[in-house]
Amino acid sequence: MTTVLDVQRYKDEGKRFAMLTAYDFLSARILDEAGIPILLVGDSLGMVMLGYPTTLPVTLEEMLHHARAVSRGARQALLVGDMPFMSYQASVEDAIRGAGRFVQEAGMHAVKLEGGGRVVEITRQLTEVGIPVMGHLGLTPQFVHQMGGFKVQGKTDAQAAQILADARALEKAGAFSLVLEGVPSKLAAEITHALRIPTIGIGAGPATDGQVLVFHDMLGLTTGKAPKFVKRYANLAEEIARAATAYAEDVRAGRFPGPEHEYTTNGSTPAKDPNEVRYGG
Ligand code: KIV
Repeated sequence: MTTVLDVQRYKDEGKRFAMLTAYDFLSARILDEAGIPILLVGDSLGMVMLGYPTTLPVTLEEMLHHARAVSRGARQALLVGDMPFMSYQASVEDAIRGAGRFVQEAGMHAVKLEGGGRVVEITRQLTEVGIPVMGHLGLTPQFVHQMGGFKVQGKTDAQAAQILADARALEKAGAFSLVLEGVPSKLAAEITHALRIPTIGIGAGPATDGQVLVFHDMLGLTTGKAPKFVKRYANLAEEIARAATAYAEDVRAGRFPGPEHEYTTNGSTPAKDPNEVRYGG
């Protein structure tokens, strides 16, 4: 099983690594079996799974529901639960109780928190009680209103210096890794070089130790123009539409179900494959 020590070793040995988001049992199992070392149950699920306009409405209960499903599907990956907006900002006690639920009830191995400042102390205290923390700086979607939109951060010298200072403080507080989102490549390279812990980039260029993408973006399930930093490795939205149309046409034309899909009255028809997925009776 991948642990936080392995993630540190990747950096120490100069091995780049991938992280992907996962939000449900089956996709977690596929990604886990494909050897993705870190699965993040990101609060981006609010947008891609639940249809919210931002990640702000996502609740701790919603996150735990998805995290439980992911942990039932994954065997090898390090599982990181994303602390949603307002589950950790108000007090260290809220943060410890919420993060504790991710570990105790949902099988997560670590949590991720957005921001620097007061999150540094929360990181220190979570680490102290044995809950590994992944930091997250730069374009932090939970700060969307303060940033005035989803905008690249760290473009000015002052902003860049603040992000670097927060990164150092999070490392010092015990964070085991740091997501850098939506920052200029040069700044991500500087932070990656300055830190002992691994950085994981999304829209942060090629110099970070790891990369992360949102599952639905990477597979082309999100439609429309993708953000610049997304690489689509498949076009599943088109593939799903094609399959659904073909199915509906088969039903209309009487081609589905065929004889191979029927049960007969002469004898039982046990499933040939014990792994055959069955829903209901
Ligand atoms: O919520 C999420 O999926 C994230 C990643 C994009 C880093 O925070």
